[in-house]
Amino acid sequence: MRLLGAFVTLSLCVYHANAATAADILANPESVINQTNAILTCNITNPPSPIKGSFWTKNGDKIKGTETESVASTTQYTLDKIGNTDGGVYACVFQTEPQSEKNIEVKTPPHVKPYKESEHGNEDDKGVLVCVSHSYPPPTDWTWYKVGENDETEAISNGTDRYEIKSQPNKTTLYIHALDITKDMGDYVCQGTNELGAATGKIHLRVRSRLAALWPFLGIVAEVIVLITIIFIYEKKRKPDEITDDDDSGSAPLKSNAATNHKDKNVRQRNSN
Ligand SMILES: *[C@@H]1O[C@H](CO)[C@@H](O)[C@H](O)[C@H]1NC(C)=O
Ligand SMILES: *[C@@H]1O[C@H](CO)[C@@H](O)[C@H](O)[C@H]1NC(C)=O
Ligand SMILES: *[C@@H]1O[C@H](CO)[C@@H](O)[C@H](O)[C@H]1NC(C)=O
Ligand SMILES: *[C@@H]1O[C@H](CO)[C@@H](O)[C@H](O)[C@H]1NC(C)=O
Repeated sequence: MRLLGAFVTLSLCVYHANAATAADILANPESVINQTNAILTCNITNPPSPIKGSFWTKNGDKIKGTETESVASTTQYTLDKIGNTDGGVYACVFQTEPQSEKNIEVKTPPHVKPYKESEHGNEDDKGVLVCVSHSYPPPTDWTWYKVGENDETEAISNGTDRYEIKSQPNKTTLYIHALDITKDMGDYVCQGTNELGAATGKIHLRVRSRLAALWPFLGIVAEVIVLITIIFIYEKKRKPDEITDDDDSGSAPLKSNAATNHKDKNVRQRNSN
């Protein structure tokens, strides 16, 4: 009896799952690959419930301005000028119970940018160069190159000559351990490749000598030394002046005494009148 109950429940579940996926949405085109523009169309044929509206999403986020309360069984979204950052998983969503949706992949070649076009590091420190890609699909392969004197490029191998490369789908980092002024200064190129092609970014690396890093500090030290010297010399010269100053002030009480004496005289004169 219990077994039968479980069976019925299971069957109902399967039935419901079927009902949820029964909506048939035709997407046209089914995917957009390496195109400069496209009109995405969805056509729902057997909605699980009356359609209350529709909208479009990109990578799961609702695209502003696409929401309508139209009960139509078709919906369109126009992509003008598809740039290399416009790729992603688009989807049309029909507001039914449950919601019905269909994905349309929009694929572009990679879009590679250096995190910073110009980097600097101190001699003996670790150099860190970063490139990112905001394309769909993300690069499946990342390569770093060092640009030589005659603009020829040489691929950098992970784990050789102080180099270490760490890559994720959207990001690659080149570490150069113990930076060397004569060897490491210059341009580096990162290249991301996906199924549709490759793109590169360029980073200029400057390496400062340890001494150069010290210059600002040495400058401050020199300034302080000059200031102290000036104050010291000034203090030494001032000493005799201060003695004569003391003489002046020493004679002052005499003067003021004379003045009070004079005043006293006046007062006495007035009193006598
Ligand atoms: C939607 O699909 C149905 C059935 O395949 C078809 O009859 C109808 O013409 C399509 N509508 C549009 C607008 O493509
Ligand atoms: C890679 O970029 C895509 C598109 O910009 C984004 O959806 C995804 O979350 C990113 N992945 C990582 C690991 O950052
Ligand atoms: C480079 O080598 C390091 C250490 O051996 C490793 O962790 C890293 O994943 C490698 N990077 C790539 C891109 O293979
Ligand atoms: C993508 O399109 C560009 C020009 O629009 C073309 O040069 C390139 O070969 C195409 N790539 C693929 C893989 O079709």
